[in-house]
Amino acid sequence: MRLRPAVRTDKVMANLQVRIWRGTESGQFQDYEVPRLESQTVLDVVTYVQRRLDPSLAYRFACRVGVCGSCAMSVNGVSRWTCRTHVSKVAADDRLEIAPLRNLPVVRDLVTDMTEFFDKWAKARGRFTGDKTRKDDFARVKPESKQRKAVDAAIECIGCGVCYSSCEVVTWKPDYLGPAALSRAWTLVNDVRDVAQKERLAAVAGDAGCHACHTHMNCTERCPKGISPTAGIAGLKRAVLSATLKGTL
Ligand code: F3S
Repeated sequence: MRLRPAVRTDKVMANLQVRIWRGTESGQFQDYEVPRLESQTVLDVVTYVQRRLDPSLAYRFACRVGVCGSCAMSVNGVSRWTCRTHVSKVAADDRLEIAPLRNLPVVRDLVTDMTEFFDKWAKARGRFTGDKTRKDDFARVKPESKQRKAVDAAIECIGCGVCYSSCEVVTWKPDYLGPAALSRAWTLVNDVRDVAQKERLAAVAGDAGCHACHTHMNCTERCPKGISPTAGIAGLKRAVLSATLKGTL
């Protein structure tokens, strides 16, 4: 069977005026003109610029379907996952301004350094700690239990950094652990198999932990997966208070 070459059937509608950040922290915006297509995403626009107009443009993506969390950028001033953000939703006047995520050092162009973001997950003890071996029976957690439901509400985090870059407290207080790391800690506080609860609560109870959150809710408003870090952080505040009153912290 002869395979026919793939044909792009999207209709060209107009040209988009696109400004993209170039350089590092001290860079500047550069202007590009990109054909506007139906069903086009912001990531499609960036890819078009890199493949057709300027191969030196640096950006990051992997899965293109909202799973890997690597393509987040600031689009017209708002942090978003670009692979699932349709141009029609964010560029009503055919203009796009695309910049690297806020609150993270810029490596180059649209690429940010995520080291500190993930280091904070480690600082919040965002790693499961069990005490069973493979010889033990597996744990049974009832799907309808309160803890399992709390885990389910936040477990789909893809680590994109959108919440972190949308949080003003991270901007003012760079050592703040931030919404993603604290939300991850909350899922583990509710994991009945985990045995590092005391250490985890101690890790999030400090000045840079859950009490630094001002409940601005940008994280919850912006999370592309519909997670509420605000709710998780409130849960951590209650858990720290409860442990303090019981004298277990
Ligand atoms: Fe920041 Fe979210 Fe708290 S935006 S201040 S972590 S509610």
